[in-house]
Amino acid sequence: MNKKFKRYTITSALPYANGPIHIGHLAGVYVPADIYARYLRSKGEDVLFIGGSDEHGVPITIKARKEGVSPQDIVDRYHNIIKKSFEEFGISFDVYSRTSAPIHHETASTFFKKLYADGKFIEKTNEQYYDEETNTFLADRYITGTCPHCGYEKAYGDQCESCGTSLSPLELINPKSALSGNVPVLKETKHWYLPLDQYEDFLKEWILEGHKKDWKTNVYGQVKSWIDQGLKPRAVTRDLSWGVKVPVEDAEGKVLYVWFDAPIGYISASREWSKRTGKEWEPYWKSDDSKLVHFIGKDNIVFHCIVFPVMLRAEGSYILPDNVPANEFLNLENDKISTSRNWAVWLHEYLSEFPGKQDVLRYVLTANAPETKDNDFTWRDFQARNNNELLAIFGNFVNRTLVLTKKYFDGKVPSRHELQDIDKKTLDSLRTFPEKIAGSIDRYRFREALGEMMNLARLGNKYLTDNEPWKIFKTDPERVETILNISLQIAANLSIVAEPFLPFSVEKLLGMLNMKPLKWAVAGSADLLQANHQLGKPTFLFEKIEDAEVEKQVQKLLDTKKANEAAAPATPQKEEITYDDFVKMDIRTGTILEAEKVPKTKKLLKLKIDTGIDQRTVVSGIAEYFTSEQIVGKQVSILVNLAPRKLRGIVSQGMILMAEDKDGKLVFVAPEQPVSNGSEVK
Ligand code: MF3
Ligand code: ZN
Repeated sequence: MNKKFKRYTITSALPYANGPIHIGHLAGVYVPADIYARYLRSKGEDVLFIGGSDEHGVPITIKARKEGVSPQDIVDRYHNIIKKSFEEFGISFDVYSRTSAPIHHETASTFFKKLYADGKFIEKTNEQYYDEETNTFLADRYITGTCPHCGYEKAYGDQCESCGTSLSPLELINPKSALSGNVPVLKETKHWYLPLDQYEDFLKEWILEGHKKDWKTNVYGQVKSWIDQGLKPRAVTRDLSWGVKVPVEDAEGKVLYVWFDAPIGYISASREWSKRTGKEWEPYWKSDDSKLVHFIGKDNIVFHCIVFPVMLRAEGSYILPDNVPANEFLNLENDKISTSRNWAVWLHEYLSEFPGKQDVLRYVLTANAPETKDNDFTWRDFQARNNNELLAIFGNFVNRTLVLTKKYFDGKVPSRHELQDIDKKTLDSLRTFPEKIAGSIDRYRFREALGEMMNLARLGNKYLTDNEPWKIFKTDPERVETILNISLQIAANLSIVAEPFLPFSVEKLLGMLNMKPLKWAVAGSADLLQANHQLGKPTFLFEKIEDAEVEKQVQKLLDTKKANEAAAPATPQKEEITYDDFVKMDIRTGTILEAEKVPKTKKLLKLKIDTGIDQRTVVSGIAEYFTSEQIVGKQVSILVNLAPRKLRGIVSQGMILMAEDKDGKLVFVAPEQPVSNGSEVK
């Protein structure tokens, strides 16, 4: 924060318009981005806060096919639903655009053409699968086949969801077109690649040296490991019909890769905003005294820290992000949020069940934000934070202050008289808060900032409780005037420092104080309210959330779980085998001695196992469910006479037995009591 910026360009990941949004989106990206934008505006900074829908990409076309509608129909539907949810939750975008808008197509085309003209791409022709029945090249996701690594039969052309290995379509055994079911043929096609490898030095200097200190460790670490592993040219075009047409000759039937056009969407949105407001957009993107910050979830890190910066750099006239404060993931009741399993709290459903309680969710999601590690949302915690924090501390303090002022002084701000020690201490403490909160927000530590904001409410609450004005009004009304004046000043301060977090409650609070919103600069002052100022009517800022309400939500999730299980009956029994077939399998008990993640994979762990026969290496696709710490020392069952297979260059000698439920959750099939390693399982 040593450099002073003139303006702030804040982007939030453009959500795919193929489904509504849930608390994970809000917690990971939009609430922190909104807190940041509101805070900066309160400080009087010039802010452009950008959002919009990401409306291209293969999943959207797959969904459209399934429903028998056009991709445009799909994105129109979800763009509107998502936009409305953001409005309802007070996400204060200056612009909310969409990548199917003409202005975006034009912006993305121009961007591509510039890079093309400047010779920044490499052109490559290679063979890709083509469906002769539908006359289309097949996107990776439109090809299924058998995984060469684990034998899973429904692997996709880009990834095997069973073992987690990323694949290229050509590696699939028995490839099939998902469009027609036919065997695709190979056909030559030309594409344009962004040679990321040519930008390694630039990335090293800019990120690894330039941002080691100020970027979050989770972000920095991921970027470093990508760069350390060596970057490769990335194709930025695809043979598809849905997307931004590749704007050069000889590119019939080709569009820009969704991850090429989507981040340019931030720029298109800025241009749209410019047209609407008459303000210039270029300074926000092209001027060194602008601070560009990308709010995203961790799955977007490589695109925002490597690919998009390389694009901006190659184009030449843009600034680079100053920071990319990516968050980890939010889980729900101890399980991964999943759209397909409906394991989520959808914003539109939340609002219909907890009307008017947007701030409660904003609060809980910030207090529990997955800033440094994945975190869990539970309904019990939601209730507790509402009842014990928002209601018992913030709400209670404000309510007591206003009700007492109304009762004793007709709702007029009383004057301060001679100050006692406790008053001076309280006012001294009050003065320190804005800076503490600001310091945390400036470093993207929103949980910490929220904690400090609540500490200010705690200070007020404690001040009232310690001074017990209700006990001394009869004997010392002048003292009560001082106490309530100070309490009211604290409440007025809360209306400033709580606004980024709890905008709806602050609006109510301002009504009660009969005040216009104040700017951050005056926060900390003990003179925000003048004596004799007439206050508004006290109401409640927060309501108690009853057990029954959260139980209902928990039940709803349990019902979802049951419905998922019912909808997916157990897989049918396999073909009959003989006893001889069975005894061919040599299954033993063994103990996991070591476990480490296989680099560049999501799911693979490399295990060292004592099988009783020997110590050997087994590669297992369980990394998403278990950390090494959880499983080292564990006894398991292992098929020891499986032919060795090479996975990611590591020879795996055997297979650990696991049970997998319909949600893909894995548990060990392990001896129920310790037994010596090498015992036969039969
Ligand atoms: N749609 C992407 C996702 O949900 C995010 C796109 S961010 C942008 O993961 F930069 F590309 F716009
Ligand atoms: Zn596989």
